[in-house]
Amino acid sequence: MERASASNPVSMEDVAALAKRRGFIFQSSEIYGGIGGFYDYGPLGALLKRNVKNAWWRDMVELRDDVVAFDSSIIMHAQTWKASGHLEAFNDRLVDCKVCKHRFRADHLKSLEQCPDCGSKNSFTPERAFNLMLRTFVGPMEDSASMTYLRPETAQGMFVNFKNVYQTARKRPPFGIAQIGKAFRNEITPGNFTYRLREFEQAELEYFVPDDGNDLKRFEEWVQLRKAWYAKYGITAERLRFYELTAEERPHYAKAGVDVEYLFPWGWGELESIAHRGTYDLDAHMRVSGKDLRFYDEASKTHYTPLLIESSAGMDRTTLVVLVDAFERETATDPAGKQTERIVLHFHPQLAPLQAAVFSLARNKPELVQRARAIEEGLRPRFRTQYDEGNIGQLYRRQDEIGTPFCLTVDYETLADSALTVRDRDSMRQERVAVDRLETYLHERL
Ligand code: GAP
Repeated sequence: MERASASNPVSMEDVAALAKRRGFIFQSSEIYGGIGGFYDYGPLGALLKRNVKNAWWRDMVELRDDVVAFDSSIIMHAQTWKASGHLEAFNDRLVDCKVCKHRFRADHLKSLEQCPDCGSKNSFTPERAFNLMLRTFVGPMEDSASMTYLRPETAQGMFVNFKNVYQTARKRPPFGIAQIGKAFRNEITPGNFTYRLREFEQAELEYFVPDDGNDLKRFEEWVQLRKAWYAKYGITAERLRFYELTAEERPHYAKAGVDVEYLFPWGWGELESIAHRGTYDLDAHMRVSGKDLRFYDEASKTHYTPLLIESSAGMDRTTLVVLVDAFERETATDPAGKQTERIVLHFHPQLAPLQAAVFSLARNKPELVQRARAIEEGLRPRFRTQYDEGNIGQLYRRQDEIGTPFCLTVDYETLADSALTVRDRDSMRQERVAVDRLETYLHERL
């Protein structure tokens, strides 16, 4: 068994090849040679990513009474980015090798003395700051007055609306605002498949708490909550770590910070950041806008600026983690003694793009096809299902590779006994289940 584990990571090439072959992820604009840092999700990838986002939304928003939903615009007033500090400080340090002309992020290089690509010594240009925000113009004029940016994070839309939200939703701290949406960063070195993108989605939760001495306890509660979330969806515990940032690693205003990291095939990489940001963000917007964003406490008739605990998770990275973590290349010996290999994605049933595939054992037997199609149609309103037909071995192989937990096969016996064969993806065990019990059977297991 070659399940992803701390000691036995899968190869990213294998995951990317499967993702392409089965229609999870394609390079954007592939027919024109692609464009670095942009990817498209195919039919199964779109379902997988949607299920990841739905899982986050369900647990972080719908199942809580202290978090409200939000959806802010991608393009905001340019002053937003002045206040947030992105205009001045959202920079990477960039160097070019004068010999091979390759470009690097200075902080990604082991040494600035030797180019890792061509081996040349002392060939780097001096470092220069490169702002990661993607610029655009609003309206017909392309001048500095009409210039703004595609948001590099969704968070700012929630900060500038803090007052609108707490007043209309009638919430008082502690409470949170959550949104899932696109963000854009002009990364110098996009790569590692969908790990570092220039267009990606974030799921961000901004949790505002009173300054009552419980803020660090609440921060720790959020770290535990997020840990439980990854465990709930079956992410391998040894491949996840919650790295506590030191005071030197945190921004000066942050009281605490934890990076959620996953052991990708190339090493540990950040998946989510959880930060105690104090009053930094609301203070910054009050300073630049001149507007009062403080919370007005009716009971004590006082204004105060709540402290902020932020959880910011990348949805493309989480989808990638779900894919990598589920990937297994399994070798088994068949009854004839022959070694066979199967690739299987062990998705959590709530995240799997499809939950049950219904097959007809033969495609040229109308009575089987009709029965199988009718069963699939009956299950479709309650589960993510698909009908297929043909060679049963090939059908199982395909469904294993796309991570479908159950395959249901209608055969000749079904016509007589009204039961079908249910095959479990992980154990490959098969059992007969009566058609009228199917819905309960799947409900119990999914
Ligand atoms: N508002 C806080 C914030 O944006 P961040 O650590 O810069 O914090 C949060 O980003 C998450 O967004 C990261 O942990 C990662 O999952 C995702 N993310 C950031 N840059 C990304 C990129 N270039 N490609 C894909 N995901 C990215």
